[in-house]
Amino acid sequence: MIRAIYPGSFDPVTYGHYDIICRSCKIVDELIVGVLNNKAKMPLFSVEERVKMLKEVTKDLGNVKVVPFDGLLVEFARQQKARLVIRGLRAITDFEYELQIAQTNSKLSNGMLDTVFLTTSLEYAYLSSSSVKEIASFHGDISQCVPDFVAKLVYEKYKDNSNDRLIKSDKYGGVL
Ligand code: PNS
Repeated sequence: MIRAIYPGSFDPVTYGHYDIICRSCKIVDELIVGVLNNKAKMPLFSVEERVKMLKEVTKDLGNVKVVPFDGLLVEFARQQKARLVIRGLRAITDFEYELQIAQTNSKLSNGMLDTVFLTTSLEYAYLSSSSVKEIASFHGDISQCVPDFVAKLVYEKYKDNSNDRLIKSDKYGGVL
């Protein structure tokens, strides 16, 4: 039985994430989508909101569970009895960051936690949560990036533009 974790911030979940989730759950027996509760990142959505969105998006996938976590991924994986992490790779620019995380997790877990990379489908290669937020903050069209109900929630957050500063807190600096 293979149980894997697909961790991330999912702020918000995009079609790119959904693509990785759908493909992963065909490869493994159980997929746990781990939603990072990292207050230092100042997410646009609370962890509860992100979990709710992901539960809605994955409701028709029988072997997927959505679980929030904070702290170290290796600890979360140990609690969930998972020995595999899945991450999506969009481009070579992702690779350095992802390699470092994967190797750190392997070291921290004494080799008990491995990472498998799925290459993002070409149609979503350009997509990131940061770009979705940036586009929405300027009232641009995000209908090709996220499901309709997610788009509505994102626009809600930018209604009065008071959240514009939040996109700057992402790891890409909100400049994608
Ligand atoms: O969607 P993201 O923000 O790129 O996901 C990053 C994530 C959640 C995979 C990564 O930040 C993470 O695992 N954080 C938990 C803290 C941790 O375990 N850090 C050690 C590895 S550097």
